[in-house]
Amino acid sequence: MIIPVILAGGSGSRLWPLSRAKHPKQFHALVSAEPLLVDAARRVPASGAFMPPFVITNEENRFGVVAAFRNAKLACQGIVLEPEGRSTAPAAAVAAHLALERAGPDALILVMPSDHHIENPRACLDAVNAGRTAAQKGLLLTFGIKPTKPETGYGYVKTDRVADEAGAVLKVDRFVEKPDRETAQRFCADNHYFWNSGIFLFGARAYLDELARFEPAMVEASLAAVQNAATDLNFIRLADSFRDCPADSIDYAVMEKTKKAALVPLDAGWSDVGTWDALYDAAEKDERENATRGDVVLRNASRCYVRAESGLVAVSGVEDIVVVSTKDATLVARRTESGTVKEVVQHLAATR
Ligand code: GDD
Ligand code: MG
Repeated sequence: MIIPVILAGGSGSRLWPLSRAKHPKQFHALVSAEPLLVDAARRVPASGAFMPPFVITNEENRFGVVAAFRNAKLACQGIVLEPEGRSTAPAAAVAAHLALERAGPDALILVMPSDHHIENPRACLDAVNAGRTAAQKGLLLTFGIKPTKPETGYGYVKTDRVADEAGAVLKVDRFVEKPDRETAQRFCADNHYFWNSGIFLFGARAYLDELARFEPAMVEASLAAVQNAATDLNFIRLADSFRDCPADSIDYAVMEKTKKAALVPLDAGWSDVGTWDALYDAAEKDERENATRGDVVLRNASRCYVRAESGLVAVSGVEDIVVVSTKDATLVARRTESGTVKEVVQHLAATR
């Protein structure tokens, strides 16, 4: 059986001021008419080889998850509540422990971020099915996208041969998480490289075994947090000791180090909606390549992303900028550097 695991504990701080700790981006309808979280859940059927998903989030957002699933009439295996986010490797470890408990030693977990848009979910599902046999054999599968620009916020995966046909399972030679710009440019020019989509298919046991080689304390701490979890309705509230679990992402903690990685090419209109620039890429544009949402007036502006959540926004005589205006805060940034909004949020948290 495959248990989907939707990671929904990120704060989405690079999409400030729309995305807030109390209402992060996965609960917003950013591209489709439904929240990103629901888009993710709909990518897999709740039948056949797939069990209903786990959603891993935090106390603050628990009822947001309940409401999203209820409104979408989707089933949920359980809503796991972290007392504190420890990044994605411990979250996946928690899911792996729970999957072994619920579906036995051969359980597979399909780790899915909640900050993506996938134009063609059918192709995504086909890629997952293509990777099943390899995952059952113990390989740690990632799904790879052909890079279109030297994005520094992604992981890059080098495969042993140049192939991108649907359904291929390629051996991974190298995994480099978030390279610098120069390195990313080099990778983009070499067709052995893919972007890591952040979607992974692992045998629950295989993932934990590999994690135990690199981060044994993470496996122990996540197991203790699951064993001492409190169950309440459909919530699985991890023990408070989870706060002491080392924090790291799947990419750094496992994928960069393992020799068991493999990649299935994913050609499904994937786009990361992690930054305003990425949302700009996924949006429809006017004849001057501006993307707008809400009550926006543009004069002599090009390649801008302008979003008015509250009131009117007028933009004049500028290029390549992002303007996002909400009831209580407004962001103006250079579009291609909109990833640095995270630093603005950190600054705000430290000073206000
Ligand atoms: N439950 C939980 N707890 N979820 C988390 C936590 C946590 O502590 N931290 C992050 N998440 C969720 C986020 O909400 C998001 O859906 C997903 O995990 C991935 O985390 P990001 O913080 O968005 O990772 P990233 O975008 O920097 O990098 C990852 O995704 C890229 C593609 O979008 C990596 O896997 C890269 O290699 C990849 O290219
Ligand atoms: Mg992301």
